Amino acid sequence: MTVKVGILGSGFIGRIHALNLRRDSRVDLIGVADTVLQAAEKLAAETGVRSMANLDQLIDAGAQAVYICTPNTMHVEPVLKALSASVHVFSEKPMATSLDGARQIRNAAANTQNVYQLGFNRRFANVYRFAKELIDEGKIVPYAAQMKHNRGELKQPPWTSDPRVTGGYLYETPVHLFDMGRFLFGDIAELEGWARQSIYQELDGFTILLRFKSGVITSFTSVAHTSWLFPYERVEIYGEHKTVVTEELERAWFSPGMRDQVEAVDCFQMPFEQKWGYVTEDHLFVDAVLGERPPAVTAEDGYRATELVEACYQAVRTEKKVSLPLPEPTGKR
Ligand SMILES: NC(=O)c1ccc[n+]([C@@H]2O[C@H](COP(=O)([O-])OP(=O)(O)OC[C@H]3O[C@@H](n4cnc5c(N)ncnc54)[C@H](O)[C@@H]3O)[C@@H](O)[C@H]2O)c1
Repeated sequence: MTVKVGILGSGFIGRIHALNLRRDSRVDLIGVADTVLQAAEKLAAETGVRSMANLDQLIDAGAQAVYICTPNTMHVEPVLKALSASVHVFSEKPMATSLDGARQIRNAAANTQNVYQLGFNRRFANVYRFAKELIDEGKIVPYAAQMKHNRGELKQPPWTSDPRVTGGYLYETPVHLFDMGRFLFGDIAELEGWARQSIYQELDGFTILLRFKSGVITSFTSVAHTSWLFPYERVEIYGEHKTVVTEELERAWFSPGMRDQVEAVDCFQMPFEQKWGYVTEDHLFVDAVLGERPPAVTAEDGYRATELVEACYQAVRTEKKVSLPLPEPTGKR
């Protein structure tokens, strides 16, 4: 059986998913859509499928699943529309840019037989799988960690410097590392932190301290105006005289003891779409649509990551410690 898939948003990430899906024999890519006609046409020409203008056209053309690859604040509406039309959804991150938006999607996903999967691709990147497996196999018991996720700029694509489109800098790439914190260490009990606005028209530098329910303590730093100096993303996990270090999605090390040989993972030569986890997340999404497994990243994961971003903004704005979970927003949907 093949799954008819459409892509909404034919920019950078829409293209990556479209090319992956074209290589999956279980998928019939039926169209790519964009509000900018030329963007849809360009990707349509590259992938050999029809170009369309919007979600309705993809659904009318018979899409059984859609990828929502529009900018951050434009995820909730098409996701809810697709789920209510009984169409499976893969949504790019962030799930939403408010806790209420995340709640609405979580409710919609809970009330449908259709799949909702979120694009936290780092979970499937080799370096983070390496760290996760070491933890799951008990080769390291994490006690403390440091997490860093910087951006060189907020210029590419241009909308990344506009908080009305991103929902705020933390909803841009840093949200990936919040999810990674949960993936590696579980849910967060409390956090506090500081932020400043230095270069862009919003808070663009953060230092947050987090205590996980598991007891792990971490610091998280994210600055939007560095310079892309390698590695802009780095995680260090500390156990009993053991350390795991990841550097971007390129390399990772495991030091199992004070006098032992260090194990290394080097992904430098791998194709970008594989080492970043995009190929795996797309494959797992199609598995889920075919009923072979549950979604690999769930609406609950998306809700918790949104909650974490909101808790960070609350903590830095009030300069007060914030306990999680946050109160659930109330609403009709
Ligand atoms: N998981 C990841 O690693 C990753 C990487 C990059 C981007 N993203 C996420 O993917 C989303 C898209 O990012 P991008 O880098 O591809 O941006 P982009 O600007 O390259 O592409 C977005 C496209 O969406 C189109 N668009 C805007 N509004 C639309 C609408 N209402 N309907 C249809 N099309 C619309 C734009 O014209 C543009 O072509 C963002 O939410 C971003 O955070 C995730």
